[in-house]
Amino acid sequence: MLSKIHNLEDYAVAYRKSVNEPEKFWATVADSFVWRKKWDQVLDHDFEDYKVEWFKGGKLNITENCLDRHLLSRADKTAIHWVPNNPKEADRVLTYRQLHEEVCKTANMLKAQGVKKGDRVCLYMPMVPELAISVLACARIGAIHSVIFAGFSASALASRIEDAEAKVLLTANAAPRGAKIVPLKEIVNDALSQVSCIEKCIVLKRTDDPVEMKANRDVWWHDAMLTVSNECEAETMDSEDPLFILYTSGSTGKPKGVVHTTGGYMVYTAYTFQNVFQYEENDVYWCTADIGWITGHSYIVYGPLLAGATSVMFEGVPTYPDAGRFWRIVDRLKVNIFYTAPTAIRALMAQGLEYVELYKLDSLKVLGTVGEPINREAWEWYHQHIGKGHCPIVDTWWQTETGGIMISPIAGVLPTKPTYATLPLPGIQPVLLDADGNELEGKGVEGNLCVKYPWPSMLRTTWGDHERCKSTYFSTYKGYYFTGDGCRRDEDGYYRILGRVDDVMNVSGHRLGTAEIENAINMHDAVVESAVVGYPHPIKGQGIYSYVICDPEKLEVTTMEEIKQEISEMVIDKIGKIAKPEWIQIVRGLPKTRSGKIMRRILRKIAAGEFDNFGDTSTLLDPSIVESIKEGARREK
Ligand code: WT7
Repeated sequence: MLSKIHNLEDYAVAYRKSVNEPEKFWATVADSFVWRKKWDQVLDHDFEDYKVEWFKGGKLNITENCLDRHLLSRADKTAIHWVPNNPKEADRVLTYRQLHEEVCKTANMLKAQGVKKGDRVCLYMPMVPELAISVLACARIGAIHSVIFAGFSASALASRIEDAEAKVLLTANAAPRGAKIVPLKEIVNDALSQVSCIEKCIVLKRTDDPVEMKANRDVWWHDAMLTVSNECEAETMDSEDPLFILYTSGSTGKPKGVVHTTGGYMVYTAYTFQNVFQYEENDVYWCTADIGWITGHSYIVYGPLLAGATSVMFEGVPTYPDAGRFWRIVDRLKVNIFYTAPTAIRALMAQGLEYVELYKLDSLKVLGTVGEPINREAWEWYHQHIGKGHCPIVDTWWQTETGGIMISPIAGVLPTKPTYATLPLPGIQPVLLDADGNELEGKGVEGNLCVKYPWPSMLRTTWGDHERCKSTYFSTYKGYYFTGDGCRRDEDGYYRILGRVDDVMNVSGHRLGTAEIENAINMHDAVVESAVVGYPHPIKGQGIYSYVICDPEKLEVTTMEEIKQEISEMVIDKIGKIAKPEWIQIVRGLPKTRSGKIMRRILRKIAAGEFDNFGDTSTLLDPSIVESIKEGARREK
């Protein structure tokens, strides 16, 4: 059994040990897993010329730890309880025994389709059990999974498939989401016409919607599964073999493939799952994220299954068929631990209490949030109306790159404080640095959040481009991992995340780069130049505001409204609906300095509806541009 923190004293002891003797600390945690061969060295690292290896020389398969290990004591316990989008459709429940069998069958199916250890398999799927099953099936045979969120467009999917040089793509004919049906296979057909590496596309029949199948490439899932055996010996993996790639946005235009490896990721996700949520055997746990994001990887699939927990998986959206959907599911399944995003809380809060008051919610013990800063109103509402004042809220700060939760209360153990992620978990050594790279000591300070010592689930590289990994995360401050977030350590020593300090936005908990959206906008042939910024949005956290310079000749033949519409469609086409700008303002110029740099802070202010106090604007090439943008913005809003 994994060492668990029960009180403040335990936390202090664990934290101290994790800093003073990190290798001993993590070796003890790692000891509670099944290894085919124990490691030779706990940690080998270099933050200057970035390299990190955990449990070096260790051999294991993560699915033996997620599945086989539980067959002795928990075979008939529910591993995954799946709730479909349509409440009239039946739930699907998979016990550990059944999940094990499905994973083995799917693993054999992948092998039969030509997948081998080290191959990349891309998953573009609805939130159905087959998604979790195939993630594990890949891990079973040592294939590297790359899950692409099903809200991304064909061209976003194509560029991710290409970057990873994936051989096989798993998808479904369609994905029901709320009242809509996303035509996944249609999008896939478009994406696959743009790439050449995919040999096989396996299609799950999720709905009755007909699709076009391409001979010799496309195979129906149920056909591919017809003759496979239900036994599949797990592949022996090295602790540092890649487990998965997950693409995420950064400050440059091209998304990065964050690579996580096997041993360290397993140890850290299991440890944090059990401690942060204070998971106890027989708790029903529900994380509402999509497996297309890191939250779903670490805290729907791996963390909970490593713990032998019952993990609820929901296909739908919070407001369908009505805004009581989450709470109805909580009551029906007697959910004890509930983990969601601030944007969902704000959206449900806006729908009024009548959707909450219909439900008891008395099974809940622990509430969590993730993905973006939570504002005080949302925190209080969640605490009072969902947690009825007695459930601790764990505001968990972490990133795709960190693999697991880094700074967070431990439920019922560490005190909570609205809007604060509070304290680092054992093994995590956060520091705040000023612009010159000095560590800010003491309390009541604010700076750039960095981490100064490795932890087991940190990213190892960015797929195919290690230099990029080094320059993005390890070069801003020598010897530190730089998170890209600003952070305050208050008078009590508690951490409060202030948001990104780079050109990364957080829209409804989705991470999007401004450059990525600008690239998409610039593809419109009437567009000369564009600049995208985030602005505070009451539900989404941040909304997208774009300033666009158009070719005057094009504006003579097309109306502004038409061009804006086309620009919107261009962004949806290149990235997906999640990146659609809330506002598009056509401008005659952008506020540039004499050296040609866009003064984004001015654009951010205007987007936020603030029309003065722009600070020092003396380096602007043409200050009259700012005046005209302001006027335009007033007209827009
Ligand atoms: C960025 C990472 C971690 C899984 C989901 C997002 C922001 C995340 C919090 C929080 C304030 C947060 C940060 C971070 N963020 N959690 N509890 N409080 N901000 O993963 O897409 O990699 O985004 O999300 O800005 O850098 P991601």
